[in-house]
Amino acid sequence: MYRLYLTLAIFLFLGSSVMQVTATDSDDSTTANGMVRYRILSQSPHSPIPNMFTINSETGDIVTVAAGLDREKVSQYTIIVQATDMEGNLNFGLSNTATALISITDINDNPPELTVRTFSGEVPENKVNVVVTNLTVVDRDQPHSPNWNAVYRIVSGDPSGHFIIRTNPITNEGMLTVVKPVDFEMNRAFMLTVVVSNQAHLASGIQSSLQSTAGVTISVQDVNEPPVFPVNPKTIRFEEGVPAGTTLTVFSAQDPDHFIHQIVRYGS
Ligand SMILES: *[C@@H]1O[C@H](CO)[C@@H](O)[C@H](O)[C@H]1NC(C)=O
Repeated sequence: MYRLYLTLAIFLFLGSSVMQVTATDSDDSTTANGMVRYRILSQSPHSPIPNMFTINSETGDIVTVAAGLDREKVSQYTIIVQATDMEGNLNFGLSNTATALISITDINDNPPELTVRTFSGEVPENKVNVVVTNLTVVDRDQPHSPNWNAVYRIVSGDPSGHFIIRTNPITNEGMLTVVKPVDFEMNRAFMLTVVVSNQAHLASGIQSSLQSTAGVTISVQDVNEPPVFPVNPKTIRFEEGVPAGTTLTVFSAQDPDHFIHQIVRYGS
């Protein structure tokens, strides 16, 4: 009575030897009864071609024969392997099959790409920890892995460090946030240049995308700030007996909102 067991050890990845299948036959391996040979019965899907893999009939090593494993197109293959004893003689030997699931490991072969060339947003003056705009990005690598996670940097336009960009861990968006108050009277707008990359380095031979850089136009919203009295309190001296209606002094308040035409009224 022959017994044939197939065990699959799945380990490797893209490029060379993928895995080894091992059949154990309880017969004496020095006789034909115990000599097992392997072949691939099927591969699914047939993409990009039907024969992406081959198996060494004696050792059971499965190797990739064709280039073109691309996790972004096919992330897993199912292969059915047959082991036959009697040196693989299908007429006399006993066969058994096993299914191999081959997962394609992601590499960072897709740089993140900003979805537009220019983003814009508005920031209220004197406020911090406000998200000014969300920078949107597309990356075709495995979501939530270092090959996908975006890292944003401001490379110009913010010498005083008013803004930072945190990555939204769920959406991968860059949350451009004001962290140092801006003053409309000093800066009415900012023109930033931002660059996006991944946590992981790009795979060798992959160029970073043209869309890794974008401009961000931020306009500063003027907020009505209260007028200030430069001299306060103001001491007024006058002699007794001045006639009614005499001007005693002029209160001059200054308004920081130089650019808004506004009238300062003095309450009585
Ligand atoms: C940015 O994204 C966050 C989270 O999705 C959202 O709550 C917020 O309103 C967005 N802010 C802007 C300015 O688009």
